[in-house]
Amino acid sequence: MTRGPPRAGLPGVALLTWIIDTPRPAIERWQQSDSSLSQGETPVKPTILALLPLVFGPAVSAQEVTYTQHIRPLWEDKCERCHGASAPTYERFVKFRDDPTVDFDGKGPRMDTYEGFLFFVNGPQAGALMRMLDDGSHTADGAAGSMYRHLGRASERKEKLQIFKQWVGEGAWVVKKPGELSKEEVQRIKAAK
Ligand code: HEC
Repeated sequence: MTRGPPRAGLPGVALLTWIIDTPRPAIERWQQSDSSLSQGETPVKPTILALLPLVFGPAVSAQEVTYTQHIRPLWEDKCERCHGASAPTYERFVKFRDDPTVDFDGKGPRMDTYEGFLFFVNGPQAGALMRMLDDGSHTADGAAGSMYRHLGRASERKEKLQIFKQWVGEGAWVVKKPGELSKEEVQRIKAAK
């Protein structure tokens, strides 16, 4: 059982010490629990919520990057015209990409749903997104992946790439060929819905 924070008095050293000494998951559990204040006690929960960002930095308040909120709109803006509903399935794409009689009109494989997109992130083609989108800072020869330029004007690419990186997760952005990622590397990928 996690012990709650000290109740007496206003926020002070004891309260800060409690926040620092208590493991994060325990604090979060406590945050979500009902605070059963008896009469006359200081409502300490709002105070703690206000103090958390000061102690742990912006991580606590930082919004999680999700497909629905952040990646999807970006994808519609920068990627959909070549990877949308009219694009060939991955299977078809692979089968005919070197066939001179089949013209995909410059389009790549279709990836227009969350699950369809994950195929290239942590699914069967795990790592394809990172390899194609990297700006060259993770590649052996320093060359950017071939999709990097589609992120927009030179001035906005870095910023857009950063959103993809945050979505994949800190430390999970590895540039390798699909099939070369280890199980651990694949599992580290966040890619929240
Ligand atoms: C002008 C068309 C075009 C745009 C825009 C475009 N792509 Fe592509 N994409 C392609 C083509 C064509 C390929 C196949 C190229 C290849 O295999 O070398 C491809 C391949 C890919 C692959 C690798 C698939 C695989 O496993 O072989 C990924 C991942 C990808 N694109 C992601 C993106 C993302 C993310 C964006 C938006 C930032 C984007 N693409 C924008 C045309 C485009």
